[in-house]
Amino acid sequence: MNDLKGVILAGGTASRLKPLTKVTNKHLLPVGKKPMIYYSIEKLVGAGISDILVVTGVEHLGSVVELLGSGRDFGCSFTYKVQDDAGGIAQALGLAEGFVAGSPVLVILGDNLFQDSLRDYVREYLGQGGGARILLKAVHDPERFGVAVLDGGKVVKVVEKPEEPESELAVTGVYFYDSSVYDIIRTLKPSGRGELEITDVNNEYIRRGSMQCCIMRGWWSDAGTFESLEHVQRLVRDNPPE
Ligand code: G1P
Repeated sequence: MNDLKGVILAGGTASRLKPLTKVTNKHLLPVGKKPMIYYSIEKLVGAGISDILVVTGVEHLGSVVELLGSGRDFGCSFTYKVQDDAGGIAQALGLAEGFVAGSPVLVILGDNLFQDSLRDYVREYLGQGGGARILLKAVHDPERFGVAVLDGGKVVKVVEKPEEPESELAVTGVYFYDSSVYDIIRTLKPSGRGELEITDVNNEYIRRGSMQCCIMRGWWSDAGTFESLEHVQRLVRDNPPE
């Protein structure tokens, strides 16, 4: 057990998956034998995190609560928050401020699936004494993601969806932050796509010299497009998450 709290971001319109997401939330779609969001929950609970905030849009909040309930079946306790508009990952995370009450958070984007257990990463984050930590993974299509540029093992910048990526290292949707993240979020301005970008949050931690990173060992993929959703189905089937 540790005092880290968990946040699962499960909002957004998932327009790239229509019509699959016309009447349901992307995070409730099946992956293997379970709804997608179960994988994030199991990762958090498996790492000893039992206090979990789920942030989702108003349209499907009813279905999300109906599926997950209080958390008793998962061995955790859920709190729910509504993100009124799809204003970005950083905006959704900002809604967690009251819930976390000063504790550090482990944030997972609910459409990110991965093989590794989070236990070691949690230990590393708690050992670093505050600040932030991002998990990276080399991919063949980094231009689809936030891309990290390293210098001697230290992350020196993150660029959101660069046309010409300076590295293959995608920033995965698994983030550790201390409680200074909310003050940072308050300073953000919407990006070109009208969202508060988590990449801007990460660059501010880098500027302050308090960002650490590590590279995921096992497989990782998002599941926000038909191609990546299909890819994730294969990964889960062939090498189930730890
Ligand atoms: C978001 C982040 C991006 C990150 C990705 C991981 O992208 O902005 O930095 O690499 O999640 O899935 P989005 O899904 O909003 O395009």
